[in-house]
Amino acid sequence: MNLKDTYINFFIERNHKFIPSAPVIPENDASVLFNTAGMQPLVPYLMGQPHPEGTRLCDVQKCVRTNDLDEIGDTTHHTFFEMLGNWSLGDYFKEESITWSYELLTKYLNIPKERLAVTIYAGSDDIPYDKESYEIWRNLGIEDSRIAALDDNFWIAGDAGLCGPDTEIFYWRANEEVPTKFDPEDERWVEIWNNVFMQYNKDTNGNITELPHKNVDTGMGVERVTAVLEGKLDNYESSIWSPIISKIEELSNLKYEDDNKRPMRIIADHMRAITIISGDDAKIYPSNKDQGYILRRLIRRVIRYAKRLNIDINSDFDIKLANLIIDSYKKYYPELERNRDHIIEVLTIEKKKFGRTLEKGLREFDKLVRNGASKIDGTQAFHLYDTYGFPIELTIEECSERNLEVDVEGFKKKFQEHQEKSRAGSTQKFKGGLAGNSEIETKYHTATHLLNAALKVVINKDTHQRGSNITSERMRFDFNCDHKLTPEEKTAVEDLVNKWIKDDLKVVKEEMSKEDAVKSGAECMFIEKYPDLVTVYSIGDVSKELCGGPHVEHTNVLGHFKIKKEEASSAGVRRIKAILED
Ligand code: ALA
Repeated sequence: MNLKDTYINFFIERNHKFIPSAPVIPENDASVLFNTAGMQPLVPYLMGQPHPEGTRLCDVQKCVRTNDLDEIGDTTHHTFFEMLGNWSLGDYFKEESITWSYELLTKYLNIPKERLAVTIYAGSDDIPYDKESYEIWRNLGIEDSRIAALDDNFWIAGDAGLCGPDTEIFYWRANEEVPTKFDPEDERWVEIWNNVFMQYNKDTNGNITELPHKNVDTGMGVERVTAVLEGKLDNYESSIWSPIISKIEELSNLKYEDDNKRPMRIIADHMRAITIISGDDAKIYPSNKDQGYILRRLIRRVIRYAKRLNIDINSDFDIKLANLIIDSYKKYYPELERNRDHIIEVLTIEKKKFGRTLEKGLREFDKLVRNGASKIDGTQAFHLYDTYGFPIELTIEECSERNLEVDVEGFKKKFQEHQEKSRAGSTQKFKGGLAGNSEIETKYHTATHLLNAALKVVINKDTHQRGSNITSERMRFDFNCDHKLTPEEKTAVEDLVNKWIKDDLKVVKEEMSKEDAVKSGAECMFIEKYPDLVTVYSIGDVSKELCGGPHVEHTNVLGHFKIKKEEASSAGVRRIKAILED
């Protein structure tokens, strides 16, 4: 039996209710993009709200962490991972929790007691030393020399919130003989399970209060513990990953060895994360913000690394991998089966969008390298970006793979110069046309945001700006769209913009960090190109965009919006020319 089944059955036998994983995209918490720990969706119940399934729960939660995407490719980091957990909501406490953990590990997972060690909480001025846990472990037969009392055995997610002392269980992973004395600093001791005795809440001023009841929150990482139990030092060699890695070997006709390992791990890791994220019932699509942006980055990275392994990126290699992953995960996450078509659609759409750009860009890149460049300078990096849509992050990665330097500062300078030039250009044009009256240009700016928002409603929410240009006579707006707009669509867009103009929506300007802007869902063409502090313009609640302005204060000054022309601009990009009439 695998780890998940063994764990869940064990706790069901001890009167726990199995609850399905919450979605990986949090349902009621806009402050985080993804669930990152098993306890996260259970916070209200740990705080005291009764859970419909009772006071003993167990589950396996889908978790995604994206803060260390660059570390993916080593043997232990994963974007998506699963966390097993069992909870007591004011039911059992330390005695049962520790005893059961010990029983499951030694009797069901057959770990010899000699390979185990534990940490417990040493105490602080406010909270006492966890003597109780110490005694429970001793009574179970854990030697004194294998118990370490530490100051930081106190679990809290971030700076404030639910917390409590914890006891962490470690396993001796190495082939060397197990030392008698446990040294928590020795990395050969690997943490396999964490039992948190969650009985406090810490507010943002640091004040600690007791919760209405004492809870237990535990977490066990499936990938890590499976590798440990199977005696693998490289997680990707465990039974969790080996079918995916074998499939990549088959698709690339290469072996999981030497320099192939890193790209294969990245593809395996990202494909699993893509499948899980797009398999949520929220059915998100790749986009330039929030979870959609992460999805986009993951898919684009898969395509690049597949190319490096000489996999034909125009084949259905990604869909084959997604299907394999859906089949092996649908038992615990049945939504994957429900959303199979969506997952495939997401991959297909994004691959089409990115594939062409990438091919051309990489060819250009190779040309630069062949011509003997030892460094990509700012102008070349900007050319790759401007002409081939090569994000700077991609250029940096390509260069580091080939031991080339890249002048990132030079790129930024070029980028800024370009922006200033195009701004000056439009001011120039505008001055020529309207003898200094800037009002009309400002109006067109605001109308551009409304048009962008209306296209998202009428075409689909993944329609984004690809370019824009304003003169005193008209506005021009480029956007991604795979078809010529029908007369009905054009009318619907006009009607919606004119409705919003009539509604006299207020335009609000705010300054915020780029991170907050992304979190708030603001629309943005190339987020990575913006400085850390950005200006965000909102129009009522219909539009929110990163933009330098200027804009009108109320929409009813715009007059009547009319589309004059709709035509192709380039592949997959349409162009609208529109005017504002009195
Ligand atoms: N909440 C605890 C953790 O994530 C169990 O480690």
